[in-house]
Amino acid sequence: MANQRIIVGNWKMNGCRALANELLSVLARSTPSDPARVKVVLCPPATLLSDVKSLREGTPIVLGAQDCHAKTHGAYTGDISAAMLKEVGCQYVILGHSERREQYGETDALVAAKALSASSAGLIPIICVGESLSQRQRGDAEAFVAQQLRSSLPELPCEIVIAYEPIWAIGTGYVPTVEDITAMHHTIAQVLVTQRGPLSPRASILYGGSVKASNAKEILDLPGVDGVLVGGASLIAEEFSAIVSLA
Ligand code: PGA
Repeated sequence: MANQRIIVGNWKMNGCRALANELLSVLARSTPSDPARVKVVLCPPATLLSDVKSLREGTPIVLGAQDCHAKTHGAYTGDISAAMLKEVGCQYVILGHSERREQYGETDALVAAKALSASSAGLIPIICVGESLSQRQRGDAEAFVAQQLRSSLPELPCEIVIAYEPIWAIGTGYVPTVEDITAMHHTIAQVLVTQRGPLSPRASILYGGSVKASNAKEILDLPGVDGVLVGGASLIAEEFSAIVSLA
């Protein structure tokens, strides 16, 4: 949908019921009522999905998860399938976050398989890509992210969201220059057209990494930026509400 802004809150392994109550009560008051213009997606830990689902009722806020397994079911202790997330009320799932790629060795091929599984279950995958600091410093950032994206895309031309998250910007307070964000979003858009064809469903491209209320407007106003993926600041009710109100 053209011009729709997507603001995603990634709580990571943070939060409890009290925090969910607090965040949702503030957000419910401040979230724009027109989800066609601004979509707010909350991705709490799996233990809080049901709570957030109830708390968001009557608001345009939608539910997302932080990961899913590539398989539909089976002997995968500790894992959750895309269909299970769909059943609990999720519409989106974050996949291939750099923390999972780095800490759990998730490969591009696995991310692509998870995205296919998510999409088959009726979820919209939010596929994360991003370069390391050394790749940025060597001038390899765009080539790396283009290749990472090509091999992380699901085979089907389904609806997807891409989040450009430079690893060195996550949780650090550092943010790329506006020129670098714009250039990377342009590269990502080109890869999507080349890989998926011009008739594929349009993909939204988000920026993530140290987004705060103080820099969100500048980032959201950049050409090719359809929204933001927010980590730390999504755990602070007033801060996240302020970001949503800037969208
Ligand atoms: P941050 O995290 O906003 O705390 O930098 C973003 C993310 O990892 O999705």
